[in-house]
Amino acid sequence: MLFDPSPKESRKDFFDREKEIEQLESLKSRVVLILGLRRTGKSSLVKIVLNDLNLPYVYIDLRRFEEMPNMTYRDLIRETEREVNRLKYRYPGIVNFLRGLKGVGVMGNEVRFSWGKDRLSFSDLLVSLNDWAEDKVLVVIDEAQELGKLRGVDLLPSFAYSYDNLKKVKIVLTGSEMGLLHRYLKTKDPDSPLFGRAMSEVQLKPFRRNEAIDFLKRGFEEQRVQFREYEMVYEEIGGIPGWLTYFGFTYTESRDLERSLKKTLDHAKKLVLKEFENFLVDKQTASKRYYTVMRVMAGCGTWSEVKRSLEAQEGVRISDSTLYNYLTHLADSSWIVKEKGLYCPTDPLIKIAFKERAQLT
Ligand SMILES: Nc1ncnc2c1ncn2[C@@H]1O[C@H](COP(=O)(O)OP(=O)(O)OP(=O)(O)O)[C@@H](O)[C@H]1O
Ligand SMILES: [Mg+2]
Repeated sequence: MLFDPSPKESRKDFFDREKEIEQLESLKSRVVLILGLRRTGKSSLVKIVLNDLNLPYVYIDLRRFEEMPNMTYRDLIRETEREVNRLKYRYPGIVNFLRGLKGVGVMGNEVRFSWGKDRLSFSDLLVSLNDWAEDKVLVVIDEAQELGKLRGVDLLPSFAYSYDNLKKVKIVLTGSEMGLLHRYLKTKDPDSPLFGRAMSEVQLKPFRRNEAIDFLKRGFEEQRVQFREYEMVYEEIGGIPGWLTYFGFTYTESRDLERSLKKTLDHAKKLVLKEFENFLVDKQTASKRYYTVMRVMAGCGTWSEVKRSLEAQEGVRISDSTLYNYLTHLADSSWIVKEKGLYCPTDPLIKIAFKERAQLT
């Protein structure tokens, strides 16, 4: 069902994106990036491809670390352990490949990984998966920019080792904060383990007007719901599939256009502001300034407009390098884009959320 609000797992419920599915399924490089704003369908794309390919995989979901200022190796290892235990039900033979590794214990039916002194190394785990796999094995890390918060361990050497030596391991990383993910991977930095490693990138863009309208048409046909106000819906909520899905779902239930639009917008705005709080989790001292920047950006703004507003608010001079830092962080986390000298929100809903917030405060 097209308007089912959870991530899709089957191709028949997924609208279009044929090219992106094909791109991911070809697994051309050993590390593949799936990039797209929030709610553009990254997790769905991965799940559909995993189901299609029918290969063994480990799926590590790092979304919940978004709210936390950092992450430990224990957190990562426990997520991984759970996935490996799931895998062993279908492929019991995997246990024999893991058994001898440092930091791996097998108790009864359960595989245990340790993260303390004699911890399991992520590289060793990847090597074992490679030795075990007949054809390919996928290691998916959803919202991989969160790995930048990992303290005490660096996974980049493991990824680089895998890229260079492990033919059967395919690493798939998704990211809504695209600049941050690139910054974490540092493929352009000669000092980084991943320097120069070419990765394929699958980009999920919001639907264009026609696609968004076709999406809604198909969804309503499927539900046998009469609907006509396609243009208006696109004007109000834009082309992000997740919001169109949410709208379709609520309208199908209520058959009330105004209420469904309002509910979708309210929900989307709330999520935008919540996400922004997560973004600020390690930037607390500058949070007021970041809100000011976004308030100015809501109507699109130039460098000097932003600077003037910040200086007016605090009555102190703001240096160019400080402002540069703010704007770079915002752009890296996909809050703003620079187009023809103007900084604007990346999505109309981000714009609306900050405009309204400004009116309330
Ligand atoms: N092409 C599509 N066809 C049908 N539904 C879609 C499509 N793309 C996304 N959706 C729907 O949009 C919502 C968001 O999708 P999904 O969770 O896969 O996106 P995401 O990019 O992983 O989001 P988030 O950034 O919140 O993790 C889900 O309800 C999903 O079913
Ligand atoms: Mg997701």
